[in-house]
Amino acid sequence: MKTYEDLAGDGGSNIVGQVVSKLEKLRSRLDGIKHKVALMSGKGGVGKSSLTANIASCLADRGHRVGILDADLNGPSIGQLLGVGNDHKLVLDDDGIEPGIGVQGIKIMSMDMLLSQPDSPVMWTEEPGATAVWVSTMESTALRELLSDTKWGDLDFLLIDMPPGSDRIDNIRELVPELAGVVEITIPSPLSQHIVSKSITKNRQMGVPVIGLVENMATYVCPHCDQEAKLFEGKDAKDLSQNKGIPFIGKVPFDTRLSRKTGSGGLFYTEHRDSITGQAIAQVVDAIQNFIANNPKS
Ligand SMILES: Nc1ncnc2c1ncn2[C@@H]1O[C@H](COP(=O)(O)OP(=O)(O)OP(=O)(O)O)[C@@H](O)[C@H]1O
Ligand SMILES: [Mg+2]
Repeated sequence: MKTYEDLAGDGGSNIVGQVVSKLEKLRSRLDGIKHKVALMSGKGGVGKSSLTANIASCLADRGHRVGILDADLNGPSIGQLLGVGNDHKLVLDDDGIEPGIGVQGIKIMSMDMLLSQPDSPVMWTEEPGATAVWVSTMESTALRELLSDTKWGDLDFLLIDMPPGSDRIDNIRELVPELAGVVEITIPSPLSQHIVSKSITKNRQMGVPVIGLVENMATYVCPHCDQEAKLFEGKDAKDLSQNKGIPFIGKVPFDTRLSRKTGSGGLFYTEHRDSITGQAIAQVVDAIQNFIANNPKS
């Protein structure tokens, strides 16, 4: 394989031209999408994917055309949540890949759809000792391909379900410069809030608009009597949003029906939109739509 040192000029490879044409392809693919919103948290396991799926469900319920990019390449879960697994037959032609179609017609692209077995891990290299920079470059390349090869068509919203970690926003910011904003998700535990606080700082440093903070698993809702009780001890996430100067846009209770509900049938939101948790999800969607309406450039 040629290295850059071997190349006189660009060695006839037209590297610059190739990079430009890849970026142009990405831009033209994203042109038909009105609003791109990333859902993230520095912390893992706080409900990013579950909320992304149910927010998508609520938007679709309101008549919007919605897609989800599962940007969690190592732990993809959007396909499972919306009923598109690796048994999904990929349809591709010269122009790209058809996205999976999940419940309510939500379009999906996820690494899960590209793996040979449901339990196949994503391996970037067989070699031990790959550096973090190398892995991050691989991830960024894979994300660009997923975004630009997918025939998203015209969408009102593309939601991006982010992997845990505050540094992952770098890749998305680079690939989707016209991101409307990010929704930060935390749970009430002090540890989660500590980590999410760093993620908010990072977004601010990078000039990424933060739509607001959502507190997931804020309370517990009894499925029998709809009574709410506290699930975690700890400071209200409202304090965190005030300290960071970002809007507090929702308090979503823990509801066992939300964690049971995956794939095959409808999503939690469509079946329980009138429950306390369903209404809380709808309020988060209101806040996202209001933010976009008040920031028309996004
Ligand atoms: N409000 C909720 N009520 C009940 N269960 C929930 C709620 N939010 C999330 N869960 C459950 O918590 C678990 C973690 O949620 P999820 O996978 O969405 O988190 P995540 O932040 O995407 O995780 P990861 O960092 O691994 O991507 C799942 O089992 C999910 O069903
Ligand atoms: Mg997830």
